[in-house]
Amino acid sequence: MLETVRGPRQLMVGEGVAENIPRVVAECGLRVLIVTDRVLLGQPRVAELIAAVQDNVAAVGVFADATPDVPLTDVDLAVSAAADVDADVLLAIGGGTVIDLAKIVGVIRRYGGTPRDYYGESKVPGPTMPLVAVPTTSGTGSELTPVSVLTDPERELKVGVSSVHIVPDFAIVDPELTYTCPATVTAHSGIDAFCHAVESYTSAPRAHEPRDLVEQVFLGRNPITDHYSLQAAERIARSLRRAVRDGGDAQARADMSYGSVLAGLAFSHAGNGAPHALQYPIGAATHTPHGLGVGLLLPYALIAARAAIEDRLAVLAGVCGLDVSGASESEAASEFLDWLVGLLADIGIPATLGDIGVDRADLPRFAEMASGVTRLIQNHPGPTDTVALTAILEAAWAGDTSAR
Ligand SMILES: NC(=O)c1ccc[n+]([C@@H]2O[C@H](COP(=O)([O-])OP(=O)(O)OC[C@H]3O[C@@H](n4cnc5c(N)ncnc54)[C@H](O)[C@@H]3O)[C@@H](O)[C@H]2O)c1
Ligand SMILES: [Fe+2]
Repeated sequence: MLETVRGPRQLMVGEGVAENIPRVVAECGLRVLIVTDRVLLGQPRVAELIAAVQDNVAAVGVFADATPDVPLTDVDLAVSAAADVDADVLLAIGGGTVIDLAKIVGVIRRYGGTPRDYYGESKVPGPTMPLVAVPTTSGTGSELTPVSVLTDPERELKVGVSSVHIVPDFAIVDPELTYTCPATVTAHSGIDAFCHAVESYTSAPRAHEPRDLVEQVFLGRNPITDHYSLQAAERIARSLRRAVRDGGDAQARADMSYGSVLAGLAFSHAGNGAPHALQYPIGAATHTPHGLGVGLLLPYALIAARAAIEDRLAVLAGVCGLDVSGASESEAASEFLDWLVGLLADIGIPATLGDIGVDRADLPRFAEMASGVTRLIQNHPGPTDTVALTAILEAAWAGDTSAR
């Protein structure tokens, strides 16, 4: 068995840790580019943190024009902003979009070229600019993952830059920064984190050669990722509904922060699966948020692979707080799938692809496109030919969960 563990130099999680941002940033460099967006810039706590950073360093530039899903035009603008301030450290304060943008800015500023030079796995030549990542959603885990997801107008699907070198140097995860997330953002980012936990936990294990640990980023599940996945699923299962219902519920927000961190650690190594691969074409066609798409698809992908993962679905039932004492493995798996469908409905995730405007005639083409996203699709524990992937999409289009 070969194992590897990657992560930031320091990860801090908990109420109040944001007060460490100015000191950590100043220790990394004296000329800072802060990457954020307009919504966050308008928030008093974020403005306060930016002012405190300004007091601690020689020069600060602010790029606050990040727009959802990291279009390449944003990368050009943010790279220019970094050059204007001659930045030697990056501070990202925002959701997955903002942190993913900062990651690619760090690569381009150090190595030049364009994002296209780095698409795929392990194409970043070495360490990039120091990056301090501060998430304001509980979802993507981008503050500690080795991937940046971008939108290239010349490609129909989103693209990923994956490399151990883009794991942020510091991840400062303060649940208080998520209190202002509206219910929809809480629901979409929170179910994204739950998908990371479950897709990692149910991903296909793979045999490896020693060189794979540096040549490949996503390696399939192992006992360490299983531990992270289950810890994450437990926290998110007990707190996502509450966080969506009451954004000021401190305990639920703390659970979601911690849960999204643990889920990020799981998928940083194991990798995500079919819901993430299938969301790429669905998101591109419908312009719906990442989390909404992966959440919608999760039960259908799990049901399609049920025979291979029933034991794992049964474990998830217990971890998610269901009383499955005395139930058979198959019964417990069904209980988990029932509960998942109920959770999705409660937090406002549409039940079918039809509901979000997907045209049924496009499904085979979407399956074909998703089958090309090897880094994700290879983790799916069921069949991954286009016929099988089309069947998952057909079930999701019609809302057919009868095999649960
Ligand atoms: N790098 C990774 O490991 C990884 C993993 C999964 C997803 N992603 C990517 O991350 C992106 C999604 O990130 P996300 O779900 O965090 O959403 P996001 O960053 O796109 O933000 C969504 C919206 O929420 C707002 N928002 C964020 N924090 C807020 C707060 N505290 N208060 C009020 N509003 C707030 C933002 O302004 C934005 O309008 C997608 O592009 C997805 O592909 C990356
Ligand atoms: Fe995700």
